[in-house]
Amino acid sequence: MSEAGKQQDNEFAIQTRGLLKQFASVRAINNLSIALPREGITSIVGPNGSGKSTLINLLSGTLPIDEGLVIIEGMSLRAILPYDSPNHGITRTFQEVRLFDQMTVLDNLLVILTKREVFGSLFEPPRASYRNRARQLLDSVGLWDKRQDMAANLSYGQRKLLEVSRALAMDVQIYLFDEPFAGLFPAMLERVKGLLEGLRRERKTIIFIEHNMDLIRQLSDYTFVLDSGELLAEGEVQEVLAKPEVIEAYLGT
Ligand SMILES: Nc1ncnc2c1ncn2[C@@H]1O[C@H](COP(=O)(O)OP(=O)(O)OP(=O)(O)O)[C@@H](O)[C@H]1O
Ligand SMILES: [Mg+2]
Repeated sequence: MSEAGKQQDNEFAIQTRGLLKQFASVRAINNLSIALPREGITSIVGPNGSGKSTLINLLSGTLPIDEGLVIIEGMSLRAILPYDSPNHGITRTFQEVRLFDQMTVLDNLLVILTKREVFGSLFEPPRASYRNRARQLLDSVGLWDKRQDMAANLSYGQRKLLEVSRALAMDVQIYLFDEPFAGLFPAMLERVKGLLEGLRRERKTIIFIEHNMDLIRQLSDYTFVLDSGELLAEGEVQEVLAKPEVIEAYLGT
């Protein structure tokens, strides 16, 4: 590959080529070829059922790829194993929050920071540096006071915040957030906004799925619109959201 070609590739954290995922007769992702910018906050938008979560599930290895390729940091992959995605520099949050419900808030973070087995993190005292980092992360989402509570006992919004802090604890390049703001009260929403903006300052790759137009406009450096598993539009946010086909896709649902 030429120098120019390499530089061009470097602009993108993830590319997909002819990506396809089918559930029975539904093509949730239909022959999708996109390139996600390496830096800044990129939003994935589209009506319900347009394939947004499926795309993130494929990129993070949560779902197997039926056809096509995912190129991460220049490496072509036909399959991504879920537990391998951090090795590709990827972490993600889920539309339906996933935590270790029967562990404390603090242990939910320590288990990631110490990269030990669930039981190890429960029975061995964590090193001070891990505890300090856990405190920093829990402070950033306002949950340090809740550190001894079981994750299962947190409110819906607190659970979402804890999941975001767990993603941040991974310390990778690429962060995929599936509707991180959904159902959050304004104060919590502002915290999550601040965290995404913090990642942007660290020159990370931030991808988020969102329905709220104000948030999409405020945060997106770049936007992809999906409809029926296909790319409807992409580009700078104001431009994309003003396109008649995009407005129609939203009004049609
Ligand atoms: N595990 C699954 N089994 C069967 N069908 C699925 C599965 N996951 C998604 N689908 C279907 O694939 C299509 C895309 O779903 P997906 O969840 O990716 O949409 P979405 O854009 O995230 O929607 P929403 O905005 O409602 O979260 C839908 O028709 C959905 O019903
Ligand atoms: Mg979804």
